Amino acid sequence: MTLPPCYTPPDEEDERAAGHTRRAFMLGSAAAAAGVLVAPLVQGAPAAAEGAKAAPVNATKVALDVNGKVHELSLDPRTTLLDALRENLDLTGTKKGCDQGACGACTVLIDGRRYNSCLTLAVMHEGKKITTIEGLAADGRLHPVQAAFIRNDGFQCGYCTPGQICSAVALLKEGHAGSDAEIREWMSGNICRCGAYEGILAAVKEAAKNGGGNATL
Ligand code: FES
Ligand code: FES
Repeated sequence: MTLPPCYTPPDEEDERAAGHTRRAFMLGSAAAAAGVLVAPLVQGAPAAAEGAKAAPVNATKVALDVNGKVHELSLDPRTTLLDALRENLDLTGTKKGCDQGACGACTVLIDGRRYNSCLTLAVMHEGKKITTIEGLAADGRLHPVQAAFIRNDGFQCGYCTPGQICSAVALLKEGHAGSDAEIREWMSGNICRCGAYEGILAAVKEAAKNGGGNATL
């Protein structure tokens, strides 16, 4: 094609700007069209969004004693203890893995016993003493089981570790650290996808030897 003598090619900068303008125009048009089409379907949506921020309709008051401090909460009675800890109390050390009782990542201690906090409702635990990973260290010192996990490389990514440690603390109190096989059996509810089992076993054994089961919670 022969170009007229007055033709000057657009420079790259102009092309980019024009492209941007064209894209912006097309996106704007699409958004406007979508708005026209969808608006009649979502009338009342602002009210629904506001409602989502409000307290649940059937909210139940519950006082949870977590790590030695009592928290007054207003919860949907269907809230799991795991969600209450993470979403309402910002105690995110307790992890959500499977959310169905299969992995042990959410293990916490309730009156010294280990629980999968994803499988139990928060409102069931008023008046009980709940301990999470955040509550194990005391007076600026790690719990002996925490220290043993660090010394023995009892973790890799660390996602399962809070649950492993809470479980190990209870295991020692239960007196189930008599042999490697017994420890493995009684820790079997806590899955480690990184496969740090050798370090976890070594950590539990060391903590048992150092009197980790006698540490106060
Ligand atoms: Fe609770 Fe997996 S998150 S057992
Ligand atoms: Fe990664 Fe256990 S350390 S899952």
